[in-house]
Amino acid sequence: MEVDAATLFNELGERYEDAYAESPGLLQVTEYVVSKLPRSSHVLDVGCGTGKPVAAALASAGHTVYGIDVAENMVRIAASQVRGTFSTADMRTYTPPVKMDAVFAIYSLFQIHPSDTHKVVYRFAEWLKEDGILVLGVTPSWALVGGKGVHDPVWDCMRSKVTWMERPVSELYLSQTAWLNLLREAGFAIEVEKMFNYIPKDSKHTRNETHYLIVGRKLEPRPLLGPYPLPEGLPGKSMRNEAAWRRLQGHLVLRDDERMRLSSMLESHQRILDIGGGLQDFLGTASTGDKSMETLATPFDNLPYADAQFDAVIATMSLDYVDDLRGFLLEVVRVVNKSSSNARVILIQAAPYNEVQKLVNTVCTPLSGTNPGPAHQGLLLQSAKKVLAEIGFGRTSLHPLSTSYSFGGNSPSDRSNELAELLHNVWFHGEEKHEQMKQQLIPPIQNLLHDHPGFLQNELVILEAVLDDH
Ligand SMILES: C[S@@+](CC[C@H](N)C(=O)[O-])C[C@H]1O[C@@H](n2cnc3c(N)ncnc32)[C@H](O)[C@@H]1O
Repeated sequence: MEVDAATLFNELGERYEDAYAESPGLLQVTEYVVSKLPRSSHVLDVGCGTGKPVAAALASAGHTVYGIDVAENMVRIAASQVRGTFSTADMRTYTPPVKMDAVFAIYSLFQIHPSDTHKVVYRFAEWLKEDGILVLGVTPSWALVGGKGVHDPVWDCMRSKVTWMERPVSELYLSQTAWLNLLREAGFAIEVEKMFNYIPKDSKHTRNETHYLIVGRKLEPRPLLGPYPLPEGLPGKSMRNEAAWRRLQGHLVLRDDERMRLSSMLESHQRILDIGGGLQDFLGTASTGDKSMETLATPFDNLPYADAQFDAVIATMSLDYVDDLRGFLLEVVRVVNKSSSNARVILIQAAPYNEVQKLVNTVCTPLSGTNPGPAHQGLLLQSAKKVLAEIGFGRTSLHPLSTSYSFGGNSPSDRSNELAELLHNVWFHGEEKHEQMKQQLIPPIQNLLHDHPGFLQNELVILEAVLDDH
């Protein structure tokens, strides 16, 4: 039975530092980044371990250091030997207190599932100031010791079970290309790549390892509106089978904290138009209290309402399915009561690291040849943001929203079959190669259900727009 990261590193403690802290390659890259940082920078070390060598080098150079780690023993050691603020936290849920000049994640991503790896790299980008620096320390899949593992084509990675420091662990290795693509997609320019061999200084764990350090510079100010580079222009209306979509949405669940966050955004709104039915799916009828809510299950180019009827319009997963984005947003703004101090437009689309969209775009789109599947979500939101600014709703903010599709009850194999059937039917209903799509979706769905049993993650992005003068 493999051990999880917290157990593993709580046990290892200083033994890890003794084996790995004197890596000349890591020290060289850390020094390079230190030389590029402005004086008194704020720097975060994600999966900081004992704090040596990275956090220590940053603190000695006069920077304000924050460190997080899931293993509390590592945090305790780091806090005892490095000047900084160290806390026990998981990078998948942590939010830093300030924007950072640099984020380091050195050898701390091996125990993160592939879709979460994508999500955390976007999160790192969000945590950085403009022009901030991201440093990742990884091992590319080709260098996997013994070459043992299962290739997952959706994420271009190897899922592997290895013995490391005498313990059985599950590890994830993205290909070198996948790492570079992921950084570029999250809006980074690659500044430095350094690949080197390192033999840990540990009598019981002496073997040659390939370490790969990548230094990226944040170029795109809004990572949540990726993946980058953006395609040229919108492809036009996407197709979705509404019956299959409603069935999928029937499995949608929201954690209580996410539901509360969404509810509080709409706290002071009385009349709400819910285009796409998302709000009802997210909140359920019980949580909408005394608000008056109109729901349009599908988006329409012309809204069947008089002017200024609502103080908020929320449109969920709708922008892909209208004929004319600009015309649709003009309609949305027409039905918003601009004299209300709460006037608001809220657009919700998939996050650039949404695993459902990644799955269908990787598996089904190439088999179709003609149907591109779900449109580029970041481009839709960027285009909408531009139009909204032109029509008076120029003050916008972005927020990630975590939801999932839950498939409890069935056996794992029934669940994968049901999901494969459902997912390809939403965007590729009636396609010639639908059976092939379904069959090819099953193995990657099984992988995802192995990563997080019983559900698929459905990560979203909220674009909130208010009037310029409010
Ligand atoms: C291989 S050690 C590297 C430590 C340090 N970065 C270094 O280079 O010396 C990986 C560290 O990442 C931490 N880690 C693994 N998964 C994590 C997660 N989800 N959130 C925060 N820390 C994590 C582990 O507990 C461990 O201390």
